[in-house]
Amino acid sequence: MDLREMMDAARTAADKAYAPYSNFHVGAAILTESGTVRLGCNIENASYGLTVCAERNAVGEMVQASQEDREIRLVAVASPEAAPCFPCGACRQVLREFGCKEVVVEDENGDLHRYPFEQILPHSFGPEDL
Ligand code: THU
Repeated sequence: MDLREMMDAARTAADKAYAPYSNFHVGAAILTESGTVRLGCNIENASYGLTVCAERNAVGEMVQASQEDREIRLVAVASPEAAPCFPCGACRQVLREFGCKEVVVEDENGDLHRYPFEQILPHSFGPEDL
């Protein structure tokens, strides 16, 4: 899977978003270190606060699918409503838990931009710190 394919997968995931309240559709495609792709979309809730972002749902998909294949090589995030669409703070911390190395977003011209995770969440707290 190259970066463009990962972004296409994220965009396809965004099409499945359940976002009747914000109408802000997000898709995330995680590439694991072993080359597996796991997808997620945002799922909103009438109680608003129970909304779960696309990135965290993709992590949930990854975790339930395999006990071994849980190292995140990169995550691509897409939204038809925002270009670029970066992961929120909560999702950054959850991605950090599984060793995410890079975040990929797409700008309004369709160009891809990749960011080292340290730039996305500097001086982070993770499992090694416990
Ligand atoms: N959202 C995500 O899915 N990922 C993010 O990183 C940012 C926000 C969703 C949550 C909510 O359903 C909608 O976008 C508007 O905040």
